[in-house]
Amino acid sequence: MIYADYNGSAPLCLQVKEYLIKRLEKGPFANPNAIHYLGAKTLMGMENARAVCAKILGADFDQVIFNSGATEGISTVFHSVLGREVKKKIIIISGIEHSAIINTANYYAQERGFEVKVLPVNGDGVVDVEVLKQWIGQNKNNIALISVMAANNETGVIQPYKEINSLCVDNGIPFLCDTTQFIGKTPFNFKESNFDYAVTSGHKFGALTGTGILLAKNPEGITPLIIGGGQEKGHRGGTQNYLGNETMAVALTAIDAAFVNLEALAKKRTEFEAKMKKAFPAVVILGENAPRLATTTYISYPGIHGQAVQIELESQDIFVTTSSACSDNMPVTSKVLRAMGVTDDVGRGVVRISLCMNSPHENYDLLTDALSKAYAKLTKVASF
Ligand SMILES: Cc1ncc(COP(=O)(O)O)c(C=O)c1O
Repeated sequence: MIYADYNGSAPLCLQVKEYLIKRLEKGPFANPNAIHYLGAKTLMGMENARAVCAKILGADFDQVIFNSGATEGISTVFHSVLGREVKKKIIIISGIEHSAIINTANYYAQERGFEVKVLPVNGDGVVDVEVLKQWIGQNKNNIALISVMAANNETGVIQPYKEINSLCVDNGIPFLCDTTQFIGKTPFNFKESNFDYAVTSGHKFGALTGTGILLAKNPEGITPLIIGGGQEKGHRGGTQNYLGNETMAVALTAIDAAFVNLEALAKKRTEFEAKMKKAFPAVVILGENAPRLATTTYISYPGIHGQAVQIELESQDIFVTTSSACSDNMPVTSKVLRAMGVTDDVGRGVVRISLCMNSPHENYDLLTDALSKAYAKLTKVASF
């Protein structure tokens, strides 16, 4: 079996499984806010996990706020920056953001009178920084928040987040970088990035689902979405998911050690794509000319339904995804691909293959065989 949907959700990483088995045997289990010995011990374990996450992610201890995942982190940032009386009325996002960003920005437009401006991307799915410069020049004193992702969940394309952040810093504009697909797939240092805010979900990198981290340059500026009993230094109420938070420290430690494989994995991925293109010259690799995560390939055979390819691969015990949902049983070109100007014949044909840092490199050989078989079979009858 090859699980190739890590961008959707990563299975629990081996180290997390081993950790949990021991941890569940040993305890302690207590409210980390309780003042008895078991509470203090539980708190110590969780704060140790925070220290580990902070170190690996290049943040200060206090800049790590545990929560339930990226969606919550995004909501918290929007609430903190836009939830009070703000005179500035423009939110800038990109056309390839995850719906957790798009829908939140649209909510603030519909309910709070903000205007959302959507940055275009080029054919490889890279955000247009020149347009951003123009918009900042024209609206400098009216931009409340800029939110652009570090790496795209569909294409794996890495965005010019450094340039975007510098523009934000130079112009005093708060910047949220959605690092959900970036953290765990490539090294990341929050302080070096100089972002105001970054978010991620534990389930994307092998920790338990329902865990996440909000990184905030100035945590004092966070307005809690959940008030509760003042946990997480008042940034996020509710008894902490201490076991889940510990699993993030374990998973990040395991991944950090695996980054030595990054170059070799990227090379193997490039070879895989080259082999597919050579065998099937019609094949399109989305975002091919842009810097991309080493673990993601978004591949299309124009005219062949991505879902048909997915089913063929599944019959060979390989699990990939297509770009997005169907409408009336018709695969639809995703919003991300439409923003890239991708035509429907390519857009309906994509499958996303996303692995992890620890995936055996031979997976790419197996994928080459399996995908070649699928294309050889399906090209006999064009899907659309
Ligand atoms: C880029 C990006 N941002 C945000 C999210 C939302 O993450 P979650 O559903 O874990 O809150 C995802 C999940 O797919 C994502 O890929």
